[in-house]
Amino acid sequence: MCTEDELCLAKKWSIGLVSRGNALPGGSTRGRPMSGIRIGLIGAGGIATRHLPAWLSLGAEVVVYSERGARELTERFGGTAVASLDELLECCDVVDVVTPTPVHRVCAETALRAGKDVICEKPLARHHDDAVAMARLADQEGRQLLPAHVVRFRAEYAAMRAAVHEGRIGVPAVARYSRTAPFPAWSSWFADPQESGGVVLDLLIHDLDIAHWVCGEVTEVYAVTSQAQHQGTPTATAHAVLTHANGAISHVTGTWGAPGIRLTTSYHVSGTHGVLSFDSAAEHTIRLNTPDGAGAPDVRAGGDPFLGELREFSRAIGGGPPARLNARDGIIAVDLALAALESIRTGKAVPFLTWNGGW
Ligand SMILES: NC(=O)c1ccc[n+]([C@@H]2O[C@H](COP(=O)([O-])OP(=O)(O)OC[C@H]3O[C@@H](n4cnc5c(N)ncnc54)[C@H](O)[C@@H]3O)[C@@H](O)[C@H]2O)c1
Repeated sequence: MCTEDELCLAKKWSIGLVSRGNALPGGSTRGRPMSGIRIGLIGAGGIATRHLPAWLSLGAEVVVYSERGARELTERFGGTAVASLDELLECCDVVDVVTPTPVHRVCAETALRAGKDVICEKPLARHHDDAVAMARLADQEGRQLLPAHVVRFRAEYAAMRAAVHEGRIGVPAVARYSRTAPFPAWSSWFADPQESGGVVLDLLIHDLDIAHWVCGEVTEVYAVTSQAQHQGTPTATAHAVLTHANGAISHVTGTWGAPGIRLTTSYHVSGTHGVLSFDSAAEHTIRLNTPDGAGAPDVRAGGDPFLGELREFSRAIGGGPPARLNARDGIIAVDLALAALESIRTGKAVPFLTWNGGW
């Protein structure tokens, strides 16, 4: 029996399935129910180990093409490895790009030109012009380009943002976001700032996006960074201060720590009426401090944010409600990270103009 998700996804894709048959070329669906959506996953590295199982548990058929690792990945989780990008494009409806950042654009554009909707890991691109070109092409092709900023789908962050927008803390004043993750030592390209954009474009961008989502348009960015070595690993911290058009201030801190360190995240969002806070290292609930002692948002039904993200994207692509973020949000997140890098380079605050969507 199909789940609600599968029925929703099947609405858009079932016609293609009937005409092309239910089996993937050269592969099997390993007994999973057919949902109708066929995903082409490009890349088989670190983050593919979160996307592929999420897709499979949504009931999607998945083909994987990667320069390296596609066979190992599909042997571990399921799905079907294919030998070329052309083969992938022939047997999927939606492309999910999980390659290194510098090749997001070429992968996304190839998929868009082949008529596919595209999901792309954050950052959307290494450079502003690349991100805008991708969004422009998606617009021309009439396809969706959805940047995978997974933190928006983490229950504690989504509930906090909803509570702020409902006025639970009054007028937002000062927000603090912090994220510590192990340096991604599994792939060499992360250590090259020309490729990855370093800790700012790769890690800090998660909370730059959240800061913009919660407190809105940014008018100025000031940032500092410090670099160190831990037994040959390039650890780094970056701190950005964002001034928002509504007068709120966001402090955003990201640390690439030693390999093996546990991922921890926290926020502390203060307004005129109260404070919302969360610390993943302390507890997995949100605290709300207000004069009337009102209860904090309930986030017990959170679940895997990757699953929630890909479910929402699938529904949006299949004709359901729009996803909570789009290509424009991906561009703004890249621009905020680039402004932080420019501030670090110059030592000065950088005026920030939100991309207006003009091509
Ligand atoms: N959302 C998150 O929390 C999160 C976490 C980690 C990484 N990421 C992002 O995901 C992306 C991938 O990161 P990763 O850690 O999986 O990287 P990775 O280096 O571990 O894996 C990249 C994969 O892409 C393949 N590849 C490289 N170039 C290719 C090409 N031209 N065509 C096809 N395949 C190609 C590689 O062989 C490898 O399998 C990056 O943009 C990164 O910033 C996001």
